[in-house]
Amino acid sequence: MPLTALDRSLRKNTLEAINARRSVRSYRPDELERSTIQTLLEAAVRAPTAMHEEPWAFVVIQDQALLKRLSDLAKPLFVEEARHRTVHGHSHSFDHFTRPDFNIFHGADTLIIICARPTSQFVAADCWLAAENLMLAATAAGLGSCVIGSAVAALNIHKVKAELGIPDDYSAIAPVVVGVPGGETTATSRKEPKILFWKK
Ligand SMILES: Cc1cc2nc3c(=O)[nH]c(=O)nc-3n(C[C@H](O)[C@H](O)[C@H](O)COP(=O)(O)O)c2cc1C
Repeated sequence: MPLTALDRSLRKNTLEAINARRSVRSYRPDELERSTIQTLLEAAVRAPTAMHEEPWAFVVIQDQALLKRLSDLAKPLFVEEARHRTVHGHSHSFDHFTRPDFNIFHGADTLIIICARPTSQFVAADCWLAAENLMLAATAAGLGSCVIGSAVAALNIHKVKAELGIPDDYSAIAPVVVGVPGGETTATSRKEPKILFWKK
C-alpha cells in the first residue's frame, strides 16, 4: 500500500526520536511538571501488551533526598551482583559505584519505576516496551532519560517496596530516570543488525 505524505512524516518523526534517544547521565536541576510526567506515562501505556493485560503500575519519585538514599542502598548491592557476574565470565569496571559522590540516578529530577505483578510470561516484556515508549516520548519532548538497571535489586527489597507504596505481590521491573539534559550526549555506536535467516 503506498504511503501518504502524512504516513511518511509520522514515520520520519518516529525514526528521528529513535535516533535521537541517548542514555543521558548529566542533568540540570530543573523540576519536571506533573503534566509532563503524565504525558510520559500516557505514552508508556500505549505500548503493546500481551493478552491486553496492561500489567504496569508506576511509582514517580521527585525527591532528591530519597533518590540519594536509594542510590546509596543500591550501590553495594549492585557491586556485589556485578562481582558475581564477573566470576561467571563477564568483565566490566564498576569502580565508580564505590565512590561516595556517585549517584546511580545521575542527578535526574525524576525516577519513574515501572512495576507489575509477575503473573504471566510476558509481564516483564510489557514493562520494558512501556519503558521504551516513555523514553522516546521524553526524547520527543526534549528531555533526557536513562534506564537504571542498577537500582532493580534495591527497589525490590521488602522495606523499600513498602516505603514506595509497591504492594508485596508487585515487582519493580523497569526504573527509568527523566530530566532536563545537562548538555549534549554523543550517540553510542551499534553493530550492524546480525541477520541469522532471511528467506524470500
Ligand atoms: C536493562 C538496562 C539496564 C541499564 N542500566 C543502566 C544503569 O544502571 N545505569 C546507567 O547509567 N545506564 C544503564 N543502562 C543504559 C545502557 O548503558 C545504555 O543503553 C547503553 O550503553 C547504550 O547507550 P544508549 O542508550 O545511549 O544508546 C541500562 C540499559 C538497559 C537496557
